Amino acid sequence: MNRHSLSIALLAFAAATPALAQQPQWPPGEGREIVSVACVQCHQPTIIMTLREGPTGWRFHVHDMILRGAQIKNAEVETVVNYLASNFAPGVNLPPATAVTLPEGDGKQLVEQRCVACHDLQKVGTERLGRKDWDRVVGHMLDIGAPMTADEAKIITAYLREKLPGKP
Ligand code: HEC
Ligand code: HEC
Repeated sequence: MNRHSLSIALLAFAAATPALAQQPQWPPGEGREIVSVACVQCHQPTIIMTLREGPTGWRFHVHDMILRGAQIKNAEVETVVNYLASNFAPGVNLPPATAVTLPEGDGKQLVEQRCVACHDLQKVGTERLGRKDWDRVVGHMLDIGAPMTADEAKIITAYLREKLPGKP
């Protein structure tokens, strides 16, 4: 079997595999063809579809992925960034949230309001970071655009340190 017929055989196999039929759909828009091919070579599309970032964040990820081997030409970078930043911006096309029950306490409601625009609470509730990690993580979320005041960030950090201490 030469390379060409092998790839046809693989395509036929892929088409017959039910798991692929259930792949989540990429939203329409310029850049869809590039992303739907170049961004699924190494991981599931969900790693992208469940994340929300602005153009700066997406540009960072796209360059990071190119360093790791993603086949995106220089001339395609901005098209890809625009596609990702318009379809997967904070608050846009949010996937159905996974039900996560956070422990009661001051700050619970703030977390539920402020920490869901870019990923769901599973990322917060299941991460099980250590007490001292929460300062850094909440600070980082603030830096990349989480909508909260400095006072709210303090309340949220205290709540997470107290209620989700995880590791010692
Ligand atoms: C050559 C392999 C490869 C390709 C192609 C690839 N990625 Fe990745 N991607 C990775 C690896 C490896 C990780 C895990 C990195 C880590 O654990 O920090 C990752 C992780 C990610 C993450 C999660 C980052 C985080 O900090 O949570 C995002 C978002 C992402 N990729 C987006 C993309 C996009 C968009 C494309 C297409 C432009 C793409 N990837 C193509 C290898 C690839
Ligand atoms: C503006 C979008 C945005 C908002 C709002 C947001 N996050 Fe994030 N969060 C991200 C992104 C993007 C990542 C993964 C890439 C990274 O670490 O930069 C992430 C990753 C995380 C992680 C994993 C970090 C790690 O080091 O493993 C935790 C935990 C987290 N967020 C908690 C929170 C909490 C708590 C809030 C509310 C205070 C919040 N996030 C609000 C964008 C956001």
